[in-house]
Amino acid sequence: MRYKQLPKEVYIENRAKFTKHLKPKSLAVFNSNDIYPTGSDSSLPFRQHGDILALSGVDQEESILVIFPDAYKEEHREMLFLKETNDHIAVWEGAKLDKKQAFELSGIKNVFWLQDFERIFNEVMSHAENVYLNSNEHLRANLDTETREARFVKWCQNKYPAHEYSRCAPIMHQVRAIKTPGEIAAMQTAADISVKGYKRVMKFMAHGKWEYELEAEFMHEFLRNRSRGFAYTPIIGGGYNACVLHYIENNDQLRDGELVLFDVGAEYANYSSDVTRCYPVNGRYTDRQKEVYSAVLRVKKASEKLLVPGNNLNDYHKEVGEIMTKELVDLKLISMEEVKNADPSWPAYKKYFMHGTSHYIGLDTHDAGLWTADMEPNMVFTCEPGIYIPEEKLGIRLEDDLVVTENGLINLTKEIPIEIEEIEDFMNS
Ligand code: GLY
Ligand code: MN
Ligand code: MN
Repeated sequence: MRYKQLPKEVYIENRAKFTKHLKPKSLAVFNSNDIYPTGSDSSLPFRQHGDILALSGVDQEESILVIFPDAYKEEHREMLFLKETNDHIAVWEGAKLDKKQAFELSGIKNVFWLQDFERIFNEVMSHAENVYLNSNEHLRANLDTETREARFVKWCQNKYPAHEYSRCAPIMHQVRAIKTPGEIAAMQTAADISVKGYKRVMKFMAHGKWEYELEAEFMHEFLRNRSRGFAYTPIIGGGYNACVLHYIENNDQLRDGELVLFDVGAEYANYSSDVTRCYPVNGRYTDRQKEVYSAVLRVKKASEKLLVPGNNLNDYHKEVGEIMTKELVDLKLISMEEVKNADPSWPAYKKYFMHGTSHYIGLDTHDAGLWTADMEPNMVFTCEPGIYIPEEKLGIRLEDDLVVTENGLINLTKEIPIEIEEIEDFMNS
């Protein structure tokens, strides 16, 4: 593995949290992702599903986790099924987990080869009454491609039509929303790698360079620090491009006097960091850029104070909207008249700040987590307000990754310069 294994306590704790929610005589099944083909005999690099990862740490294709706390036989209470490793596979693909390694990784004693799955599953299904199946219930999930999990769900319901069925997803949203200490440590490492990338790029950027050259600098720094690369498709947009929210082309040249918006984060051990900064091409902000930048930074600082146990994301987003409204009125970008007359479902501030302020972050950049839950310690959120003024070719967003605690936030990405003075000093030193 490129990354250092997380302690198995992470997975033991997450399974304990999951199991607490199960009805009696229930089992739950979690599948790996597929390796996705791209044409001919090519495929994308393997990317494991966050749920089986959170519960077992198994970062390998064709793996199945079964949890059945009330199983008649002790050996059926937690089971992993893995693709059998052999010398041929070891030569062509590198070694896969053997049974001992899988136990050391996950804390699961009972590891079987995949070819035993149907027989053992049939045995446990004979005394299970209820089956928790997994599906992607993320609010913005793209479900066009049938996953390995979805194929399993069809197979299972077809073969065992008389069992009762329940949903893993709402439970996993609760489990994954609250990170264990080992997970937060991995997220800190991802953030630290992002810090290195940003500092490298701050020194590298200059008039005439191309956005993709900056992307390459990030990638260089990420890979040499044991990351597999970007946690999500990076956005590097100078001038007007910063106002295109999903600008991922990164193929324009940097111009003197413009700001560049970077929404770039490293992954590490499958955990994401998600960071946005806006730096001046020539190392100095203009007065107007400073004015708008400072407004965004004030909104960010005020919003962060609202990421506290007991608040919830719905109220939080409304409060941030009010904070942003005041700044946009002060900048004379919107008027009080427009604020009063706006459709309540699309408040006036949305003209310049049209996306959400925070999302859960973890194994997925937009991580699993309930939008209706109260905030709790060890939830990790981004905070990412922005103001986009296309008519001025100026787009500013600032984003950090923040752990909620009883005693305030831990900012995982705080080492990436964000104050105007420190940025100018660093870029010109
Ligand atoms: N980079 C994606 C986001 O900020 O949510
Ligand atoms: Mn984000
Ligand atoms: Mn981002």
